[in-house]
Amino acid sequence: MLLSAKSVAAALALYSTCASAGLIPKLLPGFVSTNGQKFQLNGRPYYFAGTNAYWFQFISDINDVSLAMDKAKAAGLEVIRTWGFNEVNVTTIPGGLPQYGGEGAGPSTIYFQSWDNGVPTINYGDNGLKRFDKVVKLAEKKGIKLVVALTNNWADYGGMDVYTVNLGGQYHDDFYTNPKIKAAFKKYIKAVVTRYALSPAIFSWQLGNEPRCGADGTRNLPRSANCTAAVVTAWIDEMSKYIKTLDPLHLVSSGVEGFYNRPGEADWAYNGADGVDFDAITKLPHIDYGTFHCYPDWWSKTVDWTTQFIKDHAASQKKIGKPVVMEEYGWLLEEDREAWLGVTSNVTRVEALTKWQNAALEGRLAGDQYWQFGLSGLSFGKSTDDGFTIFLEDAEAKTLVYDHVKKVNKQNQGWFWPF
Ligand SMILES: *[C@@H]1O[C@H](CO)[C@@H](O)[C@H](O)[C@H]1NC(C)=O
Ligand SMILES: *[C@@H]1O[C@H](CO)[C@@H](O)[C@H](O)[C@H]1NC(C)=O
Ligand SMILES: *[C@@H]1O[C@H](CO)[C@@H](O)[C@H](O)[C@H]1NC(C)=O
Repeated sequence: MLLSAKSVAAALALYSTCASAGLIPKLLPGFVSTNGQKFQLNGRPYYFAGTNAYWFQFISDINDVSLAMDKAKAAGLEVIRTWGFNEVNVTTIPGGLPQYGGEGAGPSTIYFQSWDNGVPTINYGDNGLKRFDKVVKLAEKKGIKLVVALTNNWADYGGMDVYTVNLGGQYHDDFYTNPKIKAAFKKYIKAVVTRYALSPAIFSWQLGNEPRCGADGTRNLPRSANCTAAVVTAWIDEMSKYIKTLDPLHLVSSGVEGFYNRPGEADWAYNGADGVDFDAITKLPHIDYGTFHCYPDWWSKTVDWTTQFIKDHAASQKKIGKPVVMEEYGWLLEEDREAWLGVTSNVTRVEALTKWQNAALEGRLAGDQYWQFGLSGLSFGKSTDDGFTIFLEDAEAKTLVYDHVKKVNKQNQGWFWPF
């Protein structure tokens, strides 16, 4: 549903008279808000099982996006996380950082900002934000809500290090502290956020995909000696506050993987080693909900460790009193685990993810989004497969997608108090 300019103006006028700024999105049809530990939509609780499809805006045929959204919606997947960035370098320096993925460093077909020796240019063209416009319009039409990440900790699609190498930074974490870099990121944020500030298709603006002090040892800039959890938290505070000044109607999230910062813990995922303090970040006044990710394959953790990680986040949700979303979770296919990590496991994806989904349900987590959405039948065949992709037409989707969605949606039934 699209809001008319008039109803938005009326709502904004009311906004200033309301004691609680959070009240307005609660009254706007189609806008997601929070209510204690839950999300809320159109006056009803909005627990969701969603997914991730970072590639929506990067595939060439918009009809494929339309089909993918129809299939997602039919499967009950309404909240989809995607990339609202693609930073390209006009000059490609051999061996230069960041080392892009398959999308390449030089201008790819669809990108949102290009960098030429320190000068950024936002791409407002048909292969830039106008493409994102189409994706947002489709989402409005089909009742899909997008979580839009605004940059990447990692080198895929450019991300943070493109700003840093172009603006004279040296370290990955200069992104969080260098005033010139922060100003450039704010400029980009402003261009994107103001463009869709009135669209009910935005579920939340997300500062970045997995912000950390460090990144990939070979593909990214190194971490400085000075980065701590306090540095990343301060950056999230500053940027989330900035987004709310541009767009008070949408939720804002951090996109962190949810690591804890508890002094004395031996486990790196609980002792702040990579500069993430889940509790401190989730408590920030302009962060509306907490996020965490689950990748025991990459993290050298077990399936059961992950179940505990989920329970700990459910406990944080209760303690902090804001929604928490398990917004990426994945378990590799056995052949990929063996090929990439040289490790074997006799736990299947259905077994692992079912345990985690049950933990999320039992903990009444506000939402979850598996990594990643897949389907066949697109004009070019199957969507991207990174070893974690769950294709809707595969047998495992019955349990992990269709049955799970039903269980999650059950939580939205019954009586409730909307304020
Ligand atoms: C991008 O451009 C900057 C500035 O010209 C350069 O320092 C960096 O190495 C380039 N990165 C890549 C991947 O080409
Ligand atoms: C770390 O911080 C100190 C003190 O502010 C500063 O002098 C130094 O240059 C910083 N080092 C790095 C690697 O950023
Ligand atoms: C495989 O499963 C059995 C129990 O079903 C367990 O005892 C064994 O340790 C597992 N092996 C691996 C490699 O996980």
